Amino acid sequence: MRLRFLTAGESHGPALLGIIEGLPAGLKLGAADFERQLARRRLGLGRGARQALEADRVETLCGLRGGRTTGAPVALLIRNADFDPVMAAVTVPRPGHADLPGARKYRTPDVRDVAERSSARETAMRTALSAAARRLLETCGIALGSRTLSIGGVVDGSTWTGPVRRLNAQADASPVRAIGGTASRRMTAALARARARGDSLGGTFEIRADGLPPGLGSCAHWDRRLDGRLGGALMSLGGVKAVAVGLGWAAPGLPGSKAHDAFAWKGGRAAYRSNRSGGIDGGMTTGEPLILRAAMKPIPTLARPLPSVDLAGRRPAAAPTPRADVCAVAAAAVIGEAVTALVLAEALLEKTGGDSMKEILPRLRQLRRLPF
Ligand SMILES: Cc1cc2nc3c(=O)[nH]c(=O)nc-3n(C[C@H](O)[C@H](O)[C@H](O)COP(=O)(O)O)c2cc1C
Repeated sequence: MRLRFLTAGESHGPALLGIIEGLPAGLKLGAADFERQLARRRLGLGRGARQALEADRVETLCGLRGGRTTGAPVALLIRNADFDPVMAAVTVPRPGHADLPGARKYRTPDVRDVAERSSARETAMRTALSAAARRLLETCGIALGSRTLSIGGVVDGSTWTGPVRRLNAQADASPVRAIGGTASRRMTAALARARARGDSLGGTFEIRADGLPPGLGSCAHWDRRLDGRLGGALMSLGGVKAVAVGLGWAAPGLPGSKAHDAFAWKGGRAAYRSNRSGGIDGGMTTGEPLILRAAMKPIPTLARPLPSVDLAGRRPAAAPTPRADVCAVAAAAVIGEAVTALVLAEALLEKTGGDSMKEILPRLRQLRRLPF
């Protein structure tokens, strides 16, 4: 394992903690990098009041000196403004959430501990930690971006054709992070209707990366395949139920002649004529832009709750209605970028090796000179 990280902390505990280990020395990094990503995570219409409450200031505890990584583990702390020292027991599980399976797993009718840790608040720390991975990728000429593709069945049919480094600026200009103006307005209206009904919505989002050298990941062993690793990282986000690479679910309905990327001989090298594979073949980057999509189910906590049961009282009860997001697809896209950055940074470090940026950058230049 070349780059590893751990997070700890409850949603309404005093703080979130994170440690990332395996970063090379000499990478420019500071609190502003972490906070920039956290601010992006709070964006998006449909999020609950908590996002306005949390300032998400990051305390960098170790691993940095003079604004650069030292090669030692980097540890971060984010204090929760929504800290609740009492954390009262909750014995009514929310349908669609981790509450009931967690209560059965830990054999307690009080779902509070499960709800606290399964909450998406944990992804604030993953997003913060990912800023280090992002810095590494950016320093190596690799850009990442994301956008909302659909919310509650309203689809943005437009295709992004520009460079990935411009994608986020365009997506962030929309309250729902969609790049198509009409779709953005229709998604906004769908969200308002869902909120008025006391309901929630899901949707789909896209993540893109460009500037990746070919050969990240591996075909040599199942657990080194990059698509498997990216899929696992994206599926680890609460609410994400499907992940697609390139054509994804459309590929099975197409003949092979329309599903694969033919090659051409261009400028003395093999070149891809298209990018239907989404930048990964055989578990390795092809050198073409990475295109991932993920589907998120509607938020389980509903203002007008579904029927549930009281595990302590052993009787029917309405599910609790704590403050919740109506839709978190825009935020999930930003968090999806974050976990993608962590996987890509690890794959890059595996390929280049090296303890410091001074070793990594020349090695990367060498890797970018393709033999054919
Ligand atoms: C950014 C983000 C915000 C979320 N906000 C909420 C929320 O406010 N309320 C809620 O019930 N679920 C929320 N979820 C979804 C739950 O975390 C998720 O449905 C739950 O952990 C169960 O996991 P599963 O849906 O993958 O089975 C959010 C997820 C993400 C990624």
